[in-house]
Amino acid sequence: MSYRVEVRDTSEAFEVASGESVLAAALRSNVKLPHECTLGGCGTCRVKLEQGSVAYAQFPMALSEEEAALGYALACQARPQSDLVISVPRVELAQPQRQPAMVTGIEAYCHDVIHLELVLPEAESFAYRPGQHMNVFLGDGSHRSFSMASLPDGNQVDFHVRRIPGGRFTETQLAQLQPGDMLDVEIPLGTFRYHGEDYRELLMVATGTGLSPIKCILESLMDDPECPPVSLYRGARTEADLYLDREIREWSGRLYEFRYVPVLSRADASWTGRRGHVQQAVLQDLADLSGHSIYLCGSPVMISGAKKAFLGGGASVDHIHVDGFNFQTHG
Ligand SMILES: Cc1cc2nc3c(=O)[nH]c(=O)nc-3n(C[C@H](O)[C@H](O)[C@H](O)COP(=O)(O)OP(=O)(O)OC[C@H]3O[C@@H](n4cnc5c(N)ncnc54)[C@H](O)[C@@H]3O)c2cc1C
Ligand code: FES
Repeated sequence: MSYRVEVRDTSEAFEVASGESVLAAALRSNVKLPHECTLGGCGTCRVKLEQGSVAYAQFPMALSEEEAALGYALACQARPQSDLVISVPRVELAQPQRQPAMVTGIEAYCHDVIHLELVLPEAESFAYRPGQHMNVFLGDGSHRSFSMASLPDGNQVDFHVRRIPGGRFTETQLAQLQPGDMLDVEIPLGTFRYHGEDYRELLMVATGTGLSPIKCILESLMDDPECPPVSLYRGARTEADLYLDREIREWSGRLYEFRYVPVLSRADASWTGRRGHVQQAVLQDLADLSGHSIYLCGSPVMISGAKKAFLGGGASVDHIHVDGFNFQTHG
């Protein structure tokens, strides 16, 4: 049995065949819906169900039960159980382009994070929204995603790349890269961005290289009189993982009411700062999250746990924005 889906904002409509996801049917009918991972892990395909209901073969990681109860669905996993009317967030973004990128810098930030600098020789300059990412193609059609860590600056851009043991790109290919080598990239991609339309206190939570898109967003707010108060909670295992720690502490001179709280889950005895899981530290400090805009970047496990915990702490589902660093392979 097939169901009809109507996109309220554009009045586009399409049929979803039995067993098909809303996203797959939309793409088959040339209706554009935002998406990234297509695996239920990133949350980019979130839509609001204005009418009708959906079911999931397996409840997706990037959707909380609270969001589902409020009528949100992940189009890449949702199977309609009736005709649907959906609304979709729209955002104007630069058109992604596939092009060569030249490595101009490659150096270690810490034991497992590389600072990678690229130049796009075919572009005099290019624009992206802080929070977006690029895809690097590995030569067999597969790609890996990395978030821009620096503000648009001509045709140059920076990345923070965590080395994954056994990782095809981050361990094998990256180890062989030299300045002057070329990569095949598509840039810019993704809908993660700063939502300046709401003036709310900012709560940024990053684990690992999830710092990268947060850094880019916060750099865009530096010296801005409209910048709301900012709290950055940074989760890591040990002190050795806190790359750029000194630079981040200096942001307090350029961001309004900036609080920086590193939280270590496996600190040694000499660590005098916060310990435990980063989302627990947030809840210990901020009893009521109902007035915050919340940005979560990094490990999908942290994001899923933090989202649930923060909704329980009063956060509004419409003001939680996530950038999950899902793996592009599963081994
Ligand atoms: C939108 C987006 C933005 C991202 N931005 C960044 C970024 O700025 N910096 C960054 O370092 N990463 C980022 N990532 C994550 C990065 O794309 C993955 O870690 C990537 O899969 C690593 O590729 P690889 O070829 O080295 O490993 P693969 O060969 O793909 O994987 C090797 C093995 O490691 C596992 N694995 C892969 N990634 C991880 C991980 N992160 N943690 C634990 N296990 C893993 C795989 O499941 C597999 O078993 C982002 C991901 C997304 C979706
Ligand atoms: S595209 Fe649906 S969750 Fe990533």
